[in-house]
Amino acid sequence: MSPRKIMIAPSLLSARFTHLEEDVVRVEKGGADMLHLDIMDGHFVPNISFGPAVVKQLRPCTTMPFDAHLMISHPIDYIEKFADAGSDWITVHAECDDDIAKSISMIKELGIKPGLSLNPGTPFTEAIQHMEDIDMLLLMTVNPGFSGQKFMTEVMDKLSEAKKHIDANSLDIDIQVDGGIGPANANIVAQNGGNILVAGNAAFGGDGNITANIAAIRESALKGIQ
Ligand code: DX5
Ligand code: ZN
Repeated sequence: MSPRKIMIAPSLLSARFTHLEEDVVRVEKGGADMLHLDIMDGHFVPNISFGPAVVKQLRPCTTMPFDAHLMISHPIDYIEKFADAGSDWITVHAECDDDIAKSISMIKELGIKPGLSLNPGTPFTEAIQHMEDIDMLLLMTVNPGFSGQKFMTEVMDKLSEAKKHIDANSLDIDIQVDGGIGPANANIVAQNGGNILVAGNAAFGGDGNITANIAAIRESALKGIQ
């Protein structure tokens, strides 16, 4: 199978909340492939971010696909709201309290691409039964809840295990990797099979040159698969 396209997904969590529209436009002009929306309920993770109303208001500001990462205990109560707000992808966590198969089929029925996410401590075996039904597997390289945490290199073994499974079964699944990714490690993420790279701090931080930040992440990732 030919390698999947490397895509960079800046996380809105690291944008300036007083300048959301401006920052969304900046990442789009800066070459981002999709916008990662970190949705936190203060229960599944010890942090609260933003909800569907914010997503809906941002929808007309960009043509980038919206990738909603639901770090919430009961996604079933919110899937329809995030679909209605304009999400193109909706990802639920394997560790949430709702039925995963039901969550995935709800997402599909709404015409949205379903994703399944695993925390760093959750083995790949937890995802296997759902692999035929998802469009994206999201592997966390930090414990979810906050941006700016340290990338956990040890997740790379699980990433290559997932990639091998996908290739061996000829599955049509993107692998997204999320947490602490930047130019210093995007290469090993891509090398181990990740093709959608989320970036919060590395996209918005530094001296704020988002275009250069995204280009540096992409360049490193492409080196990893050369
Ligand atoms: C963590 C979120 C990540 C995070 C990414 O709970 O899912 O998307 O905000 O931010 P960085 O790249 O700064 O780790
Ligand atoms: Zn995320």
